[in-house]
Amino acid sequence: MQESAFETLFAWSGARRSHRLLDLATGGGFLARQFAPHVAWSLGMDLVVDMLLSARETARDEGVDNVGFFSAVVEDLPLQDASFDIVTTRRGPHHFADIPRALDEIRRILRPGGLLLVEDLTVPEDTGQSEWVNTFHRLISPSHGRALSPGRWRDLLEAKGFVLEHQEVERRSKDLGDQKQASGPEVWERLQAHLDALEPNDAAALGYREEGPRLDTQTVLLAARV
Ligand SMILES: C[S@@+](CC[C@H](N)C(=O)[O-])C[C@H]1O[C@@H](n2cnc3c(N)ncnc32)[C@H](O)[C@@H]1O
Repeated sequence: MQESAFETLFAWSGARRSHRLLDLATGGGFLARQFAPHVAWSLGMDLVVDMLLSARETARDEGVDNVGFFSAVVEDLPLQDASFDIVTTRRGPHHFADIPRALDEIRRILRPGGLLLVEDLTVPEDTGQSEWVNTFHRLISPSHGRALSPGRWRDLLEAKGFVLEHQEVERRSKDLGDQKQASGPEVWERLQAHLDALEPNDAAALGYREEGPRLDTQTVLLAARV
């Protein structure tokens, strides 16, 4: 996350020393650790235990002593109703097996008036372009499920009983040179074929440029209250 993205989420959070915070799909525990000094305590959860062990070690090294970590899946949280003031998740939702079900669980464990904060990869509103972007990411990593467009987030949150308070989209042009290196020749060949299949108007909309090559990536930041 860019420093400014965390600062934006933090500014939206209204975090207080009395608040109980849960970071979903915490991975290395970045948000759980960042928020910890500003709340009563924070918990990070993830389905991968190894990530949690490393998050715990980092928190210990940093001297953050009001953070804990546990393993679960977001679609079935072993937590009591209305037991958190703030739920965060960074770069998690596009991996979730079932985002609508995860939102039901988040709504259940947030107290009335509690806040959900999300930072995640997002896709264009255009169906063809969003499919193309999701396929591109799935070719890079099979753990990529589905990134939602800002409009789809709005509709889904509303349908699940949240009130969207803030939504921002950040767009950056990304040099795919590093991706080419990291992917290796086989995966890169598939990615290049996917890039070559873009129609000119879609290529322009997605910021694809052959030199580099470069492609735009978009991130959505949002705050929604129950
Ligand atoms: C890209 S990482 C993001 C980690 C961390 N939030 C960060 O920003 O560094 C996505 C994380 O989501 C976790 N994850 C994916 N699906 C999940 C699910 N259904 N329940 C819990 N965690 C999940 C993965 O184990 C992984 O650690």
